[in-house]
Amino acid sequence: MSLTRRELVEAGLTLGAAVVAGPALGASPTSLPLTPESGLGPYYKRGAPPATTLVAQGESGLPLVVSGKVLDPAGKPLSGAVLEVWHADGRGIYDLVGYRYRASVVAGSDGSYRFLTVMPGHYPERVAQHIHYRVSAPGRKVLVTQLYFATDPAFAGDPDQNWRKDPILEDRRLIRPVTLEDRGGPRAAVVFDTVLGP
Ligand SMILES: [Fe+2]
Repeated sequence: MSLTRRELVEAGLTLGAAVVAGPALGASPTSLPLTPESGLGPYYKRGAPPATTLVAQGESGLPLVVSGKVLDPAGKPLSGAVLEVWHADGRGIYDLVGYRYRASVVAGSDGSYRFLTVMPGHYPERVAQHIHYRVSAPGRKVLVTQLYFATDPAFAGDPDQNWRKDPILEDRRLIRPVTLEDRGGPRAAVVFDTVLGP
């Protein structure tokens, strides 16, 4: 019996799925790649207050909701992980006096987190828009990284081609897709899961 190309492709996909399923074949358990690191930067401040809304009434900028999970490499949620997040405001200015656009967000029992803010602006020392993260959980290595946005004009519509334009950004995987929601006005939404090593 000869198989059509389509049947061969389907057979390959089925085999691929079985390999990914792993444990059924006695292979090693799931191992998620660790989230790449990206520099702490000069504007980190300790002691950001607990909050899930970083933006105050009347602030300018495109509303942005960021959500995701904090996981270990086996995919287990890291309940109670603390995500310190900070970024420039919509005009590209960091608050170095107080805690505007700075917060400590605590992950829930399923490892999930969510915060509401505005899309960060550009500022002269950096090419790309970004949100800084410092993620900690008991028994885990602290993760210092940055979240970037596929819609950033710096990537000229093609992050795969242009991601190296920001020399601080060392890993394409930190650029996340942005979806636009209609919430009585436009709101951007980004999902950013983080995986912490031992
Ligand atoms: Fe920054």
